[in-house]
Amino acid sequence: MSQNPSPLRVLHVCSEVFPLLKTGGLADVTAALPPELEKQGCEVRMLVPGFPAFVNGIEDQHLVTELPSRFGARKIRLMYGKMPKTGVPVYYVDAPDLYDRPGNPYNDSDGQPYRDNHLRFALLGWCAARLAEGFDYFWKPDIVHGHDWHAGLAFAYIKALEWHTGKRMVGTVFTVHNMAYQGNFPAYMFSELDLPFSMFNADGIEFYGQVSFLKSGFYYADKVTTVSPTYAREIRDGEQSCGLGGVVQQRQADLVGILNGVDTATWNPRTDKRIEANYHVRSMTGKKKCRLALQKEMGLVEQNDKPVFCVVSRFAAQKGLHLVVDGINAIVGNGGQVVVMGNGERWLEDAFRHFEQTFPGQVAVRIGYDEDRAHRVFAGSDVVMVPSRYEPCGLVQMYGSLYGTLPLVHRVGGLADTVVDCSLENLAENRATGFCFEHFDYPSFESAVHRAFALFDKQTDWKKVQKRGMKLSFGWENSAERYAQLYRLIRVVA
Ligand code: ADP
Ligand code: GLC
Repeated sequence: MSQNPSPLRVLHVCSEVFPLLKTGGLADVTAALPPELEKQGCEVRMLVPGFPAFVNGIEDQHLVTELPSRFGARKIRLMYGKMPKTGVPVYYVDAPDLYDRPGNPYNDSDGQPYRDNHLRFALLGWCAARLAEGFDYFWKPDIVHGHDWHAGLAFAYIKALEWHTGKRMVGTVFTVHNMAYQGNFPAYMFSELDLPFSMFNADGIEFYGQVSFLKSGFYYADKVTTVSPTYAREIRDGEQSCGLGGVVQQRQADLVGILNGVDTATWNPRTDKRIEANYHVRSMTGKKKCRLALQKEMGLVEQNDKPVFCVVSRFAAQKGLHLVVDGINAIVGNGGQVVVMGNGERWLEDAFRHFEQTFPGQVAVRIGYDEDRAHRVFAGSDVVMVPSRYEPCGLVQMYGSLYGTLPLVHRVGGLADTVVDCSLENLAENRATGFCFEHFDYPSFESAVHRAFALFDKQTDWKKVQKRGMKLSFGWENSAERYAQLYRLIRVVA
């Protein structure tokens, strides 16, 4: 007898969702994956902290329930509403004492992590466990899927509840978007988390004498995923494991790398309303207009015989941008131009500003991040540089490819999985999509830059590579299907 299973109910727990709150690629993923899972037949809801951007931006809000004061928050309400545009249902934890702070969701105005971050994100995880337990009378998830350390404690609270009741309650998936952000806190804070003391153990959430939210996810979730197959291998040991190689190896059988996709409704030069002119593989004149418009906007000389190289990035050590700083002389020396947008480490902001002053008309820098401008920069450039030291997945190189802007990347993590180098063999076999360098050092980076100039001079070959990249299918369908398969494996059948 065949039975039609009821749709899988999936709760995504995270701290950022585009367009309401975004500090990086995580927000793009949490915005795009749920609607795609809905197409796979899942019933998705989200749970986020009540940061001002969510409190003010979530639509059709109503109260689910009030909660007793906890984790230093005097007033806690679980609210429910809809994400703008996609209409994805979302719960948020309204706790003004913990979340009603302006600016960055994690750091204070001096860029320092808030001192009570352990409590702020404990409350998020604790609420996820309450929802898993059936706190909302009308909707109980089959799967709790948490993202990054911010959601890590959800898995400890769920496990603690399961120990208490002796019953498996819900299937759990933890996705690691970046091993380097671990949510580690001093040991004494453990007692403020309302968890069984036995969890503060090497076989648990203790990590070199500290409490680690990331390790909690690794340890207590049924399945762990990361955002590219190569990164899933890299985190087993060495530098990329960030000290967690032991637990990664322990969870090997339950660890899988699922490549992120691109939200092609947002990132598509054929339909993008944010760019000067639309274009597509068979009609590329729009890209020329975008390039000219970008040069005008950024105060660059309007030239087209040499490539425009761009960077759109957080300025963090991960991104390897010192290689770009070192490479600007070579790019400008060869007649190329450089457009940089982003913010973060002060020395990088200063270094890029310095080059803008040194090479007016050839180098343009915008410190800060502007989503609309990001689209214009990708559309108007010829090469997007992503020389990251490590990169769990990386989205900007995929945005580049789809906009006909060839990615120049360090061959690591998701960059290795999404860019095929313009080596002679790859060109001959019609596989090349960009420029990869092997060694994380300047000579290796510079030789990739030279290869970009060389290919640009052979416009027929350049256009072939460009069009191949634009035709790549980076959509979310395949990845969403893989998540849905994973959910089915771990669904708890009553
Ligand atoms: P990461 O998440 O490590 O920053 P990704 O390539 O996965 O890298 O995602 C970057 C996303 O964040 C893209 O949508 C990009 O446009 C955006 N972005 C780039 N730089 C910044 C920045 N300085 N601030 C906020 N978002 C940024
Ligand atoms: C993290 C990673 C980045 C990844 C993004 C979305 O920010 O640094 O590589 O693309 O998460 O998964």
